[in-house]
Amino acid sequence: MTQDEMKRNAARAAIAFIPENSIVGVGTGSTVNHFIDALADNKHLIKGAVSSSEQSTARLKALGIPVLDLNHVTSFNVYVDGADEINPQRHMIKGGGAALTREKIVAAVADTFICIVDSTKQVPVLGQFPLPVEVIPMAAAYVSRELVKLGGTPFLREGVITDNGNVIIDVKGLSITDPLTLEQNINNIVGVVTNGIFAHRSADIVLVGTASGTQTLR
Ligand code: A5P
Repeated sequence: MTQDEMKRNAARAAIAFIPENSIVGVGTGSTVNHFIDALADNKHLIKGAVSSSEQSTARLKALGIPVLDLNHVTSFNVYVDGADEINPQRHMIKGGGAALTREKIVAAVADTFICIVDSTKQVPVLGQFPLPVEVIPMAAAYVSRELVKLGGTPFLREGVITDNGNVIIDVKGLSITDPLTLEQNINNIVGVVTNGIFAHRSADIVLVGTASGTQTLR
Protein backbone atom coordinates (compact mmCIF):
# COMPACT_ATOMS: atom_id res chain seq x y z
CA MET A 1 0.00 0.00 0.00
CA THR A 2 1.33 3.48 -0.86
CA GLN A 3 1.60 6.35 1.62
CA ASP A 4 -1.15 8.16 -0.25
CA GLU A 5 -3.46 5.14 0.04
CA MET A 6 -2.83 5.04 3.80
CA LYS A 7 -3.66 8.77 4.00
CA ARG A 8 -6.87 8.21 2.04
CA ASN A 9 -7.96 5.32 4.27
CA ALA A 10 -7.40 7.38 7.44
CA ALA A 11 -9.30 10.28 5.88
CA ARG A 12 -12.25 8.12 4.91
CA ALA A 13 -12.40 6.62 8.40
CA ALA A 14 -13.01 10.11 9.82
CA ILE A 15 -16.41 10.32 8.15
CA ALA A 16 -17.85 7.90 10.77
CA PHE A 17 -17.06 10.48 13.50
CA ILE A 18 -19.08 13.32 11.94
CA PRO A 19 -22.43 13.83 13.69
CA GLU A 20 -25.43 14.23 11.37
CA ASN A 21 -26.54 17.77 10.62
CA SER A 22 -23.36 19.23 12.11
CA ILE A 23 -20.76 21.79 11.08
CA VAL A 24 -17.34 20.25 10.39
CA GLY A 25 -13.99 21.92 10.94
CA VAL A 26 -11.66 21.16 8.04
CA GLY A 27 -7.85 21.32 8.15
CA THR A 28 -5.37 21.60 5.30
CA GLY A 29 -3.04 19.31 3.34
CA SER A 30 -2.92 16.25 1.15
CA THR A 31 -4.54 13.98 3.77
CA VAL A 32 -7.32 16.51 4.34
CA ASN A 33 -7.87 16.73 0.59
CA HIS A 34 -8.88 13.05 0.73
CA PHE A 35 -11.17 13.88 3.66
CA ILE A 36 -12.82 16.72 1.72
CA ASP A 37 -13.41 14.35 -1.20
CA ALA A 38 -15.04 11.83 1.16
CA LEU A 39 -17.07 14.62 2.76
CA ALA A 40 -18.39 15.60 -0.66
CA ASP A 41 -19.89 12.10 -0.97
CA ASN A 42 -21.65 12.67 2.38
CA LYS A 43 -22.49 16.36 2.15
CA HIS A 44 -26.22 15.69 2.66
CA LEU A 45 -25.27 14.73 6.26
CA ILE A 46 -23.75 18.09 7.23
CA LYS A 47 -24.75 21.75 7.42
CA GLY A 48 -21.40 22.98 6.16
CA ALA A 49 -17.73 23.40 6.96
CA VAL A 50 -15.42 25.85 8.70
CA SER A 51 -12.15 25.98 6.79
CA SER A 52 -8.55 26.50 7.93
CA SER A 53 -7.11 27.81 4.65
CA GLU A 54 -7.88 29.36 1.29
CA GLN A 55 -6.71 26.09 -0.29
CA SER A 56 -9.26 23.97 1.60
CA THR A 57 -11.97 26.60 1.10
CA ALA A 58 -11.50 26.41 -2.66
CA ARG A 59 -11.70 22.61 -2.66
CA LEU A 60 -14.77 22.56 -0.38
CA LYS A 61 -16.61 25.10 -2.51
CA ALA A 62 -15.68 23.36 -5.76
CA LEU A 63 -17.31 20.20 -4.41
CA GLY A 64 -20.49 22.03 -3.35
CA ILE A 65 -19.87 22.09 0.42
CA PRO A 66 -20.97 25.38 2.04
CA VAL A 67 -18.11 27.17 3.86
CA LEU A 68 -19.14 29.14 6.95
CA ASP A 69 -17.38 32.10 8.58
CA LEU A 70 -15.95 31.03 11.96
CA ASN A 71 -17.16 34.32 13.44
CA HIS A 72 -20.71 33.20 12.73
CA VAL A 73 -20.28 29.79 14.39
CA THR A 74 -20.42 29.59 18.19
CA SER A 75 -19.40 25.96 18.50
CA PHE A 76 -19.08 22.75 16.53
CA ASN A 77 -18.25 19.15 17.30
CA VAL A 78 -15.44 17.86 15.15
CA TYR A 79 -12.26 19.27 13.57
CA VAL A 80 -10.44 16.96 11.15
CA ASP A 81 -6.83 17.66 10.17
CA GLY A 82 -3.55 15.98 9.31
CA ALA A 83 -0.14 16.41 10.96
CA ASP A 84 3.51 16.40 10.01
CA GLU A 85 4.46 14.48 13.16
CA ILE A 86 2.51 13.05 16.09
CA ASN A 87 3.88 11.58 19.31
CA PRO A 88 2.30 9.01 21.68
CA GLN A 89 0.81 11.83 23.81
CA ARG A 90 -1.01 13.00 20.64
CA HIS A 91 0.99 16.24 20.52
CA MET A 92 1.71 17.27 16.94
CA ILE A 93 3.90 19.34 14.68
CA LYS A 94 1.78 21.00 12.00
CA GLY A 95 2.26 23.71 9.41
CA GLY A 96 4.06 21.96 6.57
CA GLY A 97 1.38 23.52 4.39
CA ALA A 98 1.81 26.94 6.06
CA ALA A 99 -1.77 26.95 7.41
CA LEU A 100 -0.86 26.44 11.08
CA THR A 101 -2.37 29.62 12.54
CA ARG A 102 -5.83 29.18 11.06
CA GLU A 103 -5.63 25.46 11.88
CA LYS A 104 -4.92 26.29 15.51
CA ILE A 105 -7.79 28.78 15.60
CA VAL A 106 -10.37 26.38 14.14
CA ALA A 107 -9.08 23.55 16.33
CA ALA A 108 -9.48 25.77 19.42
CA VAL A 109 -13.20 26.16 18.77
CA ALA A 110 -13.91 22.48 18.09
CA ASP A 111 -15.01 20.05 20.79
CA THR A 112 -13.03 17.16 19.32
CA PHE A 113 -9.83 17.15 17.23
CA ILE A 114 -9.54 14.12 14.97
CA CYS A 115 -6.04 13.76 13.51
CA ILE A 116 -5.75 11.75 10.29
CA VAL A 117 -2.26 10.51 9.42
CA ASP A 118 -0.42 7.72 7.72
CA SER A 119 1.89 5.68 9.94
CA THR A 120 5.05 7.51 8.75
CA LYS A 121 3.93 10.54 10.82
CA GLN A 122 4.19 8.67 14.15
CA VAL A 123 7.35 9.54 16.13
CA PRO A 124 8.50 8.94 19.72
CA VAL A 125 9.75 12.55 20.09
CA LEU A 126 8.73 15.56 17.98
CA GLY A 127 11.34 17.53 16.08
CA GLN A 128 12.70 15.58 13.14
CA PHE A 129 10.29 17.57 10.98
CA PRO A 130 11.42 21.24 10.96
CA LEU A 131 9.09 23.24 13.21
CA PRO A 132 7.10 25.87 11.26
CA VAL A 133 6.72 29.27 12.93
CA GLU A 134 4.45 31.97 11.43
CA VAL A 135 6.05 35.39 11.88
CA ILE A 136 5.13 39.02 11.13
CA PRO A 137 7.49 39.84 8.21
CA MET A 138 9.33 42.78 9.85
CA ALA A 139 10.20 40.55 12.85
CA ALA A 140 11.75 37.67 10.84
CA ALA A 141 15.40 38.44 11.63
CA TYR A 142 14.76 39.16 15.32
CA VAL A 143 12.63 36.03 15.77
CA SER A 144 15.31 33.95 14.02
CA ARG A 145 17.94 35.15 16.51
CA GLU A 146 15.63 34.26 19.40
CA LEU A 147 15.00 30.80 17.94
CA VAL A 148 18.77 30.18 17.81
CA LYS A 149 18.88 30.94 21.57
CA LEU A 150 16.30 28.14 22.03
CA GLY A 151 18.65 25.70 20.29
CA GLY A 152 17.18 25.68 16.81
CA THR A 153 18.50 26.46 13.35
CA PRO A 154 15.98 28.70 11.59
CA PHE A 155 15.42 28.95 7.83
CA LEU A 156 13.07 31.38 6.12
CA ARG A 157 10.68 29.40 3.88
CA GLU A 158 11.46 31.02 0.52
CA GLY A 159 8.60 32.27 -1.64
CA VAL A 160 5.86 31.50 0.90
CA ILE A 161 3.40 34.08 2.23
CA THR A 162 0.65 32.71 4.49
CA ASP A 163 -3.08 33.34 4.07
CA ASN A 164 -2.59 35.96 6.81
CA GLY A 165 0.16 37.84 4.92
CA ASN A 166 3.03 36.58 7.07
CA VAL A 167 6.21 34.53 6.53
CA ILE A 168 7.16 31.05 7.76
CA ILE A 169 10.41 30.25 9.54
CA ASP A 170 11.19 26.52 9.66
CA VAL A 171 13.32 25.50 12.65
CA LYS A 172 15.60 22.49 12.35
CA GLY A 173 17.52 20.72 15.09
CA LEU A 174 14.98 20.86 17.91
CA SER A 175 14.46 17.77 20.05
CA ILE A 176 11.09 18.60 21.50
CA THR A 177 10.98 16.64 24.74
CA ASP A 178 8.67 19.20 26.45
CA PRO A 179 6.20 20.30 23.75
CA LEU A 180 3.93 22.21 26.15
CA THR A 181 6.73 24.47 27.38
CA LEU A 182 8.38 25.00 24.00
CA GLU A 183 5.04 25.85 22.36
CA GLN A 184 4.53 28.54 25.01
CA ASN A 185 8.11 29.85 24.90
CA ILE A 186 8.12 30.30 21.13
CA ASN A 187 4.70 31.96 21.16
CA ASN A 188 6.09 34.43 23.73
CA ILE A 189 8.68 35.79 21.25
CA VAL A 190 7.43 39.16 20.01
CA GLY A 191 6.61 38.94 16.30
CA VAL A 192 5.59 35.28 16.38
CA VAL A 193 1.97 34.77 15.35
CA THR A 194 1.98 31.13 16.34
CA ASN A 195 4.12 28.02 16.03
CA GLY A 196 3.36 24.56 14.73
CA ILE A 197 3.51 22.69 18.04
CA PHE A 198 -0.02 21.56 18.87
CA ALA A 199 0.41 20.44 22.49
CA HIS A 200 -1.94 22.72 24.42
CA ARG A 201 -4.54 21.68 21.86
CA SER A 202 -3.54 18.08 21.11
CA ALA A 203 -5.54 15.53 19.13
CA ASP A 204 -8.37 13.71 20.92
CA ILE A 205 -8.62 10.86 18.42
CA VAL A 206 -5.94 9.74 15.95
CA LEU A 207 -6.80 7.69 12.87
CA VAL A 208 -3.61 6.09 11.59
CA GLY A 209 -3.53 4.60 8.11
CA THR A 210 -1.18 1.60 8.12
CA ALA A 211 -0.34 -1.09 5.60
CA SER A 212 -2.62 -3.49 7.46
CA GLY A 213 -5.59 -1.18 8.05
CA THR A 214 -6.60 1.97 9.90
CA GLN A 215 -5.99 2.14 13.67
CA THR A 216 -7.94 4.35 16.10
CA LEU A 217 -5.91 5.81 19.01
CA ARG A 218 -7.45 7.75 21.89
C1 A5P B 1 -0.86 22.22 6.92
O1 A5P B 1 -0.39 23.48 7.28
C2 A5P B 1 -0.35 21.17 7.83
O2 A5P B 1 -0.55 21.41 9.18
C3 A5P B 1 -0.83 19.79 7.45
O3 A5P B 1 -1.86 19.35 8.28
C4 A5P B 1 0.32 18.87 7.57
O4 A5P B 1 1.39 19.48 6.91
C5 A5P B 1 0.03 17.49 7.00
O5 A5P B 1 0.01 17.57 5.62
P1 A5P B 1 -0.20 16.31 4.71
O6 A5P B 1 -1.54 15.75 5.02
O7 A5P B 1 -0.12 16.86 3.31
O8 A5P B 1 0.91 15.34 5.00
